[in-house]
Amino acid sequence: MSLTKEIQKRRTFAIIAHPDAGKTTLTEKLLLFGGAIQTAGAVKSNKIDTATKSDWMEIEKQRGISVATSVMGFEYQGVKINLLDTPGHQDFAEDTYRTLTAVDSVIMVIDCVKGVEIQTEKLMEVCRMRNTPVICFINKLDREGRDPYELLDEVEEKLNIQVRPLSWPIGMGKGFKGVYNLYDKKLNVFTPSQRKLSDARETIQNLEDTKLDELIGGNNAWQLREDVELIEGVYPDFDPKEYLEGKVAPVFFGSAVNNFGVNEMLDTFIRIAPSPIGRHTEDREVNPEEPKFSGFVFKIHANMDPNHRNRIAFLRIVSGKFERNKPYNHVRGPKPLRFSNVTQFMAQDREIVDEAFPGDIVGLFDTGNLKIGDTLTEGENMTFKGIPSFSPEIFKEVINKDAMKTKQLEKGLKQLMEEGVAQYFTYEMGNRKVVGTVGQLQFEVIQFRLKNEYNASVEFASMNLYKACWISSKDKKQLDEFIRSKSRHIAYDKDGKVVFMAESRAWLQMVQDNYPEIEFHFTSEF
Ligand code: G4P
Repeated sequence: MSLTKEIQKRRTFAIIAHPDAGKTTLTEKLLLFGGAIQTAGAVKSNKIDTATKSDWMEIEKQRGISVATSVMGFEYQGVKINLLDTPGHQDFAEDTYRTLTAVDSVIMVIDCVKGVEIQTEKLMEVCRMRNTPVICFINKLDREGRDPYELLDEVEEKLNIQVRPLSWPIGMGKGFKGVYNLYDKKLNVFTPSQRKLSDARETIQNLEDTKLDELIGGNNAWQLREDVELIEGVYPDFDPKEYLEGKVAPVFFGSAVNNFGVNEMLDTFIRIAPSPIGRHTEDREVNPEEPKFSGFVFKIHANMDPNHRNRIAFLRIVSGKFERNKPYNHVRGPKPLRFSNVTQFMAQDREIVDEAFPGDIVGLFDTGNLKIGDTLTEGENMTFKGIPSFSPEIFKEVINKDAMKTKQLEKGLKQLMEEGVAQYFTYEMGNRKVVGTVGQLQFEVIQFRLKNEYNASVEFASMNLYKACWISSKDKKQLDEFIRSKSRHIAYDKDGKVVFMAESRAWLQMVQDNYPEIEFHFTSEF
């Protein structure tokens, strides 16, 4: 098959949601439709339950699950679907942000009772940074939720994106009958089923058909005709181009747990969602159809066995064909790398593959050469952009509890940071080391893993910090002067980039006012 055809048949995406909206359930239903799994209940939630938060075995188990479900590949109607999993726990949001750099589109699940929640808003901001096309799936229509029109308005307002419903619910809560497909203009009437995919009992092509009244009842039929007329009158026709540019989000309604509305979304998704698109390097845009291979590492997973420091690096292929055992240019590193252990994830199995194409994610067995953000190419020296670090929200100073194990501690911290578990800053003055995270849970994970895998003991001392700001200025002299005068608050990130550690919002504002020529950034890429 030609490279173009391989690219056209692929769709690489992630499902994102505020915890509990139904991401795991929807993932499972998509896998069922794709024939990748046979029964419901096969996909484990990657949530770390708060009740078991301090149970370390549980966290380790979750890490195992998260490797197994990191990428789920399956074929559906001749399309190769690569579904990337994102952590369910919001403390691991940074991992989710990075995963989003490896996909070409997302499906966002929203709970119809709760509407747009805080994590949904944050995730949408990340999608907007790259104009990632978004499809919304409004879930749990079998519950008494909010009015569909109100939900659409809320999505538009809070997520700051235009919406276009492509399916419409018939009833809600106990009276929920299914959804009308506005895109295909047809209605499949299903029987609700949690355990298996039920076959459509009837398909209605024309809303005026009196069979509609028999199937869903006179009142529902009347309401549906009214709603469809209203929607078609109010919303402009769906323009796939606007969706691909990230300007309009098509919206589907359904109930994942009951298999309602999932098929409608999946069938439309494979038609409208983008096939693998290119990525920007610092110098140019790389097109997927370029014959030479290129790709980037967006996630690293440590091996579960503490006696071996082996890791799996997840590589997104951007262009050309990736081949097993071929030496590739590791742009940041000193020597070319060759991978003999290359895995792909089909359904729930990991299998060795000899080749992979743009949009595919492969797992590379790595002994410590790769880190997040690394680019591999067939020769060219270029680095893909778009894997920024975001300012952490919680900062703590690392206190070494065992001076004899300083080396182990440094090695452990370096490797955990390369895996992207948290961020690491070193103060210019006094060489103080600070770990920054989005959630409390990571500190527990780091402490546990340092002890368990590196035999190093640490404690964390709370710090009063508001944000880490990467700083820059057009005027190098001014920047140097700023660094000198604020040296007590200057630190360096893991790549040696200079960071200003702001203690409070008000103080940061004051410093910004006093130094207008210095730019303060909340992400490492600007
Ligand atoms: P998440 O990955 O986004 O965190 O959500 P997950 O799929 O785990 O779903 C969260 C809860 O919502 C689960 O219930 C799940 O069964 C339920 N759910 C998912 N889709 C629907 C739906 O369409 N309708 C209704 N009514 N519920 C739905 P749970 O009680 O936490 O777990 P479980 O014991 O039911 O699995």
